[in-house]
Amino acid sequence: MSVIAIDGPAGSGKTTVARALADRLGLEYLDTGAMYRAVAFAVLRRGVDPDESEQVARVAASMELTLDGGYCLVDGVDATVDIRGSEVTRVVSIVSAIPGVRTEMVYRQRAWVAARGGGVIEGRDIGSVVFPDADAKVYLTASADVRARRRSDQDDAGDVEAVAADIRRRDEADSDRRASPLVRADGAVEIDTTTLGVDETVDRILGLLG
Ligand code: DC
Repeated sequence: MSVIAIDGPAGSGKTTVARALADRLGLEYLDTGAMYRAVAFAVLRRGVDPDESEQVARVAASMELTLDGGYCLVDGVDATVDIRGSEVTRVVSIVSAIPGVRTEMVYRQRAWVAARGGGVIEGRDIGSVVFPDADAKVYLTASADVRARRRSDQDDAGDVEAVAADIRRRDEADSDRRASPLVRADGAVEIDTTTLGVDETVDRILGLLG
């Protein structure tokens, strides 16, 4: 079983790098951020208050979630576009800080990997909590400016200033929460992608695998 854990803040290049790496290795790729976004989507759709932790955890446990080929289905509804929208982005930090939500998602992530015999998994707590014994652990970073520019290009999420403010807010929420905060995991290799291209980053990671 080959498991590669890619963690880092929003806009550090995780998704692009993890996808390219999975392609090169012939492994499947799992975007765990999309899973937390899907929970936020289900919470909004069911009219649950995101601050009601127990109810939110029940939504996470009962929702049907399929992530496949870039599509996201939540309870049979195509949420691919909506999980990237501003409404979901606004509540995803609240939802992902709830311990019961994280327990459920970690369980699903491990089951996903076990069913496929490995994979490239990206998120915030993959090397620290979900797969501490991963074959390679990478922590991607990039300057705040570059991260904001990437996110605003990628999500069509508005002007760079607004995206930068949103990233700052989520960085703080993701790093300061008590349940599985964003940290560089023990044994993770940090790669700064501010001036690195995707191929160079992927080559460095492949170099770690020997
Ligand atoms: O990677 P992203 O921006 O799509 O992630 C959305 C949110 O989900 C992010 O603000 C933090 C949360 N998240 C998390 O708490 N743990 C993960 N493994 C992945 C994402």
